[in-house]
Amino acid sequence: MKNILIIFGTRPEAIKMAPLIKEFEKHNDVFNISVCVTAQHREMLDQVLNLFEIKPDFDLDIMKQNQNLYDITSSILLKMKNILIKSKPDIVLVHGDTTTSFVASLAAFYQKIDVAHIEAGLRTHNIYSPWPEEANRRLTSCIAKYHFSPTLSSKKNLINENIKEESIVVTGNTVIDALFLILNKIKQNRKLKEKITLKLKTQNLKLSDDKKIILVTGHRRENFGEGFVNICEALKMIALNNPQVDIIYPLHLNPNVRKPVNKILSNIPNVYLIEPLEYESFVYLMSKSYIILTDSGGIQEEAPSLGKPVLVMRNTTERPEALKSKTVKLVGTRKELIVKEISHLLNSLKVYESMSKVLNPYGDGHACARIVKFIKNEIS
Ligand code: UD1
Ligand code: UDP
Repeated sequence: MKNILIIFGTRPEAIKMAPLIKEFEKHNDVFNISVCVTAQHREMLDQVLNLFEIKPDFDLDIMKQNQNLYDITSSILLKMKNILIKSKPDIVLVHGDTTTSFVASLAAFYQKIDVAHIEAGLRTHNIYSPWPEEANRRLTSCIAKYHFSPTLSSKKNLINENIKEESIVVTGNTVIDALFLILNKIKQNRKLKEKITLKLKTQNLKLSDDKKIILVTGHRRENFGEGFVNICEALKMIALNNPQVDIIYPLHLNPNVRKPVNKILSNIPNVYLIEPLEYESFVYLMSKSYIILTDSGGIQEEAPSLGKPVLVMRNTTERPEALKSKTVKLVGTRKELIVKEISHLLNSLKVYESMSKVLNPYGDGHACARIVKFIKNEIS
């Protein structure tokens, strides 16, 4: 038996690690799986743990309101030590580019425990964009022994950094495994669709077929302040100019996001500011949307599989694949550009159709099986 410790802490890591945990559980004759959550996020993490029925073996419970990077880094590092000593994993699995990912890797390295990095090799080559994620993922790559890259271009980034080719496996992104799992569940269960519609109604949201939905999310640290003010001013103008459109914005719980959004966008009749949705409802809402406007990494990966045009409110992206196939476009945080690009999509069917192709550049739904197969061959 090999001891595997899977560590994560935020909503997107949980969504992307959940199908991997389920896949490892199918091999419990060779693996003893434990889950450690840092709870860098609390409520938004718990939403995912509940949905996928994951009960962590260890919960560091570190989240503080309006935490800074020093808070997160120091509390995870100190609390991980005893857990690693107690659970003695043969290998630790971390995901992506959060501070949880980097610090959990560092904590494992201090105990000389091997690290496997899921979603490895994404790069913008600009250490401040996204910040601090570009540094988190580069530092994690330095520590990891195994690198599971979602695409060929992420593998190439690692090879360019002199990481040994035999330690890199291209698997697709596990978010597509999660997305397909939920889409199938919704498709196969009519009652679930009704349940989701009811849940949305509790947030005062009534979906109507004759209104186009623009779905919005935003949380990037580098957009705090002026960036978010510009985004909100753009949304206000779009809402006022297009009463036939509903803007639905599930607000991230970060106070740096909620303050400007609530200040600028409250009380506009066709703008719905709602609480973070649990993943099932969010996937359903993505599938019902006309356009998605976001700075999220995960949503850039999911939306092409749903054939939804995505405007990304950032200046760079570490996910060039959908950009190349023109289903995703970078619009930054300039008010004029956001308004212009949304108006194009709303007013020209030709422009809309050129961006709404169904593509799967980020995976085929079998990433987790590939990861488990590789680890089984390597360590059991
Ligand atoms: C974090 C990650 C980011 C990732 C994002 C996904 C870092 C530095 N940032 O950013 O890479 O893209 O998660 O959403 O690792 N809060 C709550 N409840 C929650 C979650 C957050 O109240 O369930 C509030 C708290 O006040 C918390 C704040 O949001 O202090 C910020 O959370 P934090 O994890 O530091 O930053 P995110 O912007 O969420
Ligand atoms: N998501 C969700 N509920 C929401 C908003 C987003 O479940 O209200 C999901 C979304 O489908 C994606 C993930 O959360 O899988 C993205 O999380 P986030 O944007 O917070 O982080 P990022 O991907 O940018 O790191």
